[in-house]
Amino acid sequence: MSGSVRRAAVSGEMSRALVLEEFGTLPRLVERPVPEPQPGHTLVRMLASQVAHLDLNVVDGKFGILPELPAVPGTNGAGIVLASDTHPEGSLLRVNGKGLGLRRDGCWADHALVPDAAVIAVPEGTDPALACSFFSPAGTAWAAVHSVAAVQPGERVLVTGAAGAVGSLTVQVAARAGAEVIGVVGRAEKLDHVPVPAKAVLAADMPTEAVGGPVDAVIDTVGGPVLRDALPLVRPRGRVALVGYTAGREFTVDLADFLLADVSLVPVNLMTRGKEVAADAERLLTELTAGELSLPIERYGPDRLPEAVERLRKGTAVGRAVLDLA
Ligand SMILES: NC(=O)c1ccc[n+]([C@@H]2O[C@H](COP(=O)([O-])OP(=O)(O)OC[C@H]3O[C@@H](n4cnc5c(N)ncnc54)[C@H](OP(=O)(O)O)[C@@H]3O)[C@@H](O)[C@H]2O)c1
Repeated sequence: MSGSVRRAAVSGEMSRALVLEEFGTLPRLVERPVPEPQPGHTLVRMLASQVAHLDLNVVDGKFGILPELPAVPGTNGAGIVLASDTHPEGSLLRVNGKGLGLRRDGCWADHALVPDAAVIAVPEGTDPALACSFFSPAGTAWAAVHSVAAVQPGERVLVTGAAGAVGSLTVQVAARAGAEVIGVVGRAEKLDHVPVPAKAVLAADMPTEAVGGPVDAVIDTVGGPVLRDALPLVRPRGRVALVGYTAGREFTVDLADFLLADVSLVPVNLMTRGKEVAADAERLLTELTAGELSLPIERYGPDRLPEAVERLRKGTAVGRAVLDLA
């Protein structure tokens, strides 16, 4: 498709976008012209876009990489190709990386102009909400279970935030690795959202016999005081894989106790491990689509962004929050 034809396809059209004007506020839903196609870029009609903790950190101005304002947040989206020199028109894709939603406008908009290199094909028929939201939890769960915690069959593994997006997939991946899984949640209403076959336990009950003795590994998606309370539950030479810090960026450790406990505390960083786990994450997408694995998703129209943000911030959201832009 030539550049002039591409322009004709979208010229004059207006498009909704959530535009952030000041860090620490929420983006406003505005009408703006559809972005003009550019060489090296793909124009996407977004169908779904994820609202994740990373995006909220950007909105708050509390991430190491921030856009110049005004800007459209949204680091992950899924949609249909409207115009591209490299990707077939009409194909379903997901977009992520190359500074999307960080250094450049992201996916919280009906249309996004994204670098060709940020476009990844998705099997036709995939739910766009799943397409835009599976990679981070699936890749992180795989990296945490297999690359960092190196879970072995028969081991006892405790997963915190077990009803969250990363936590619930981590529970399922660890169980498939042959582990006996204990899923920890912060509030009683989430006990029922911990995937089977994990034993669901309240964080407040973690230090008691509810966990049923020492564990071989902890995969912690919550951080702060939950990580502090989980550490003593690990057997000597056991492992703790740290994924997130929704409950707090800091905790205090007594170094003498830490040495005596002889437990490894290792970070899981999907940014550095993304390529290494990509094929495994894509395989998990196939299984999610087939219903063999589950990832809970809450869907919101773009006008309901404040509700999605509030539920994520309060920790009441169950699984992924996604903007439905279709
Ligand atoms: N390291 C990496 O590469 C990587 C990749 C992806 C995500 N992450 C991080 O992993 C963490 C989990 O991500 P996610 O997508 O699974 O998030 P999520 O679905 O929102 O789950 C986070 C869980 O944290 C718990 N929580 C405890 N205190 C909280 C608070 N004050 N505010 C919000 N939640 C609180 C909640 O569970 P309870 O109610 O059960 O306590 C909630 O379900 C996030 O910090 C995210 O940034 C890291």
